[in-house]
Amino acid sequence: MWTLDGDGPLYQQVYRAARRAILSAELAPGTRVPSTRGLARDLGVSRNTVILAYDQLFSEGYLAAREGSGTFVASNLPDDLTESIRSDRGERRQADIFSPRLAAYGRRLVDLSDRQPLTWEARAAPLSFDFRYGRPNFFDFPHDTWCRVLARRARRASVKQLDYGPPAGRDELRSAIAEYLWRSRGVVCTPEQVVVVNGSQQALDLAARVLVDQGDRVVIEEPHYPGARLAFECAGAEVVAGELDGDGLRVDSLPADRPIRLVYVTPAHQFPSGVNMPVQRRLEVLAWAEKVDTIIFEDDYDSEFRYSGRPVEALQGLDRAGRVLYSGTFSKLMFPSLRLGYMVLPAALVAPVVAAKAVCDTGCSALDQVALADFMQEGHFDRHLRRSRTRNAKRREALLHALQRYLGDRVEVSGVNAGLHVLAWLQGFAARRLPALRRRAAEQGVGIYPVSPYYREPPKRAGLLLGFASLQEREIDEGIRRLASVLDGES
Ligand SMILES: Cc1ncc(COP(=O)(O)O)c(C=O)c1O
Repeated sequence: MWTLDGDGPLYQQVYRAARRAILSAELAPGTRVPSTRGLARDLGVSRNTVILAYDQLFSEGYLAAREGSGTFVASNLPDDLTESIRSDRGERRQADIFSPRLAAYGRRLVDLSDRQPLTWEARAAPLSFDFRYGRPNFFDFPHDTWCRVLARRARRASVKQLDYGPPAGRDELRSAIAEYLWRSRGVVCTPEQVVVVNGSQQALDLAARVLVDQGDRVVIEEPHYPGARLAFECAGAEVVAGELDGDGLRVDSLPADRPIRLVYVTPAHQFPSGVNMPVQRRLEVLAWAEKVDTIIFEDDYDSEFRYSGRPVEALQGLDRAGRVLYSGTFSKLMFPSLRLGYMVLPAALVAPVVAAKAVCDTGCSALDQVALADFMQEGHFDRHLRRSRTRNAKRREALLHALQRYLGDRVEVSGVNAGLHVLAWLQGFAARRLPALRRRAAEQGVGIYPVSPYYREPPKRAGLLLGFASLQEREIDEGIRRLASVLDGES
């Protein structure tokens, strides 16, 4: 007789035991099931318990009654369903039995994600001097103030806040973003052109969904941000590498034989080289976009952090034709797990992008949005930005100083005027030796990250992307000192 698994109410244990017997074909389709009285006696449970279990099996279609002759296992259970049961708890182990055919999009996702690094990387043990790019300093963030603002909104949650909200985002946040962008980045827009998204990565994905067809050409700067390449390649785009010079993307180098659907640029601080695109080049890019009838995706991911020279306003602010789709993020200014960013769209793109956002996730979390709007409107955001700008300037200074002090002319640094990382080229050190250097550095508690994954053709010389925001100045100094001594041991 069946054994009960001892898990939960008795009638459910009986139900599971009977179901297991049916699915493993111990009780074949069409056979009579044990009587409730007989089964209750055999299992040592009450008859009511068995009746309850059989009721459930009836309602799920495992059992059928034949008038006047009793209860039978339904005869129309498919064979493959009954054969597929292997585990002794009657659970189906789907991975063993079904391998779904992926759509072309799914196959590209699997292939391309294997090839390109994603932002998040688990570490077995944290390193004390980790120069990983991409995170702000979590200790700079005014947690107490944020908690107060968040808790106030959570306590007073209005019905509007609890209900589904507009997929384009909460009005108060869209207005706060439009005002902030005009004031700080020269972005010209109305709140209606702002769509609140789940970080810039979603902005890239939405743009790819709405604008790119399979086989379309998309230009991405080289070296490039892998998240952008992934989004466009997964959408089926043919991604073309755009050459850079000291002023950023060289539009004169782009192929003119076929139409270009979209151009992805990071003009304020090219990722990862750090080149800043001066205004003349920006105007050239806009004129070229007009000439070849293409659209520009401006990823303004960390331009709030500018340390020298005059800040150049966003490309979007110079655009008179509505060809620029602008995107920014709160990941570097607040914290990345907030998953909030924004797109500023040409009027004609608002409706399709909002519809795509609705299909993807019906909109971002309302509580976070309204709390962030308060945080901005009450001046906490600007205060935090000013403070972290000052602190990051000191960290950048500490990094440049340490590189100079410990590595001198063994290193050439670029991209130092803005952002939260610099690019350091190790002179006379071949890129193929970097994995060993990384391992040795990690043994000393130092995390370093090669720039090669951001290139299609990895450069021969060794380049490191050094993020400095998450470390304190003395940690930066000590980390570079240790790196220099590891390098000494390697040469
Ligand atoms: C150039 C660039 N664009 C976009 C992103 C995506 O940022 P998020 O999705 O966190 O807003 C990043 C993340 O580091 C980035 O470096």
